[in-house]
Amino acid sequence: MKAKKLLRIDDLSASQVKKIIESAHKDLKRKKVSTMKAKSKGKSLALVFAESSTRTRVSFERAARSVGLQPYLLEEGSSSISKGEDLTDTLLTLNALGIDSFVVRTASTEELLALRKLNFSILNAGDGVGEHPSQALLDLLCLFNHFGASWAKLAKKRICIVGNLSHSRVVNSWISLGKLLKFDLRLVSPKGWEPADRTNWSDDLKQGLDGCDVVMALRVQKERLSSGSSVSLEQYVRQYQITSKLLAGRPLMHPGPVNWGVELETPLREYGNSLILDQVRCGYYLRATLLNDFVAS
Ligand code: CP
Repeated sequence: MKAKKLLRIDDLSASQVKKIIESAHKDLKRKKVSTMKAKSKGKSLALVFAESSTRTRVSFERAARSVGLQPYLLEEGSSSISKGEDLTDTLLTLNALGIDSFVVRTASTEELLALRKLNFSILNAGDGVGEHPSQALLDLLCLFNHFGASWAKLAKKRICIVGNLSHSRVVNSWISLGKLLKFDLRLVSPKGWEPADRTNWSDDLKQGLDGCDVVMALRVQKERLSSGSSVSLEQYVRQYQITSKLLAGRPLMHPGPVNWGVELETPLREYGNSLILDQVRCGYYLRATLLNDFVAS
């Protein structure tokens, strides 16, 4: 059997996305993840994190244990990745030790995409400025739950995504997801930080927020900004920071980690209609569903 991979949202069809979300939603509602079939229980999974992470790593690790997998964690600083070993060699080495399912985070899109040729189950946990498919899917689960578990209701909602879009893997996964499910997405960033795909992009925040039902702010990735960036943090805060006044009660999302005082004004920590921690909660159920679907049996 060919091993399954989720490296890009486009690896999924619209009906597969809906099936994953509906299955994860059932688990979310009953507060219990589905466990693996007996023949898959106890299988090994390696979590290969060559870039730092809190939410993605811990939710995948906890989900793996909950569904009955035995996860091994490999982090850059304490593995041979720090000696320059590439991801292909790392996965081949782990496979020689009996592991054939992997969750991978890396700063290198090239190394991530090179893993396609390997016949292992691989879930992308975020690659550089490429994609972060499980994040977009957990965001979708959060929205599906928020809007009454109805695809018809969700299809009528307009979602505005604001941030440093040229450096965001989350927005790239959301653009693909938006096309796949025909969502009404609005994208807002300063000029110079626009996404590669400029459909529905604007540099006017007020225009982007007009008529939208949900606001999703993305992190300003200071670590990915070159010194030659055409946009300064001060300019971003002045013109694009999301405030309580701009939200006017609408649901607020953010994949985290948040730079409080940059993309979100600090008083929004107490915002009543924030879905930020709901997104994190959804991550556990969504990733357990992915592991059940993608880890080879
Ligand atoms: N949203 C997200 O990927 O967070 P972590 O970097 O903490 O995993």
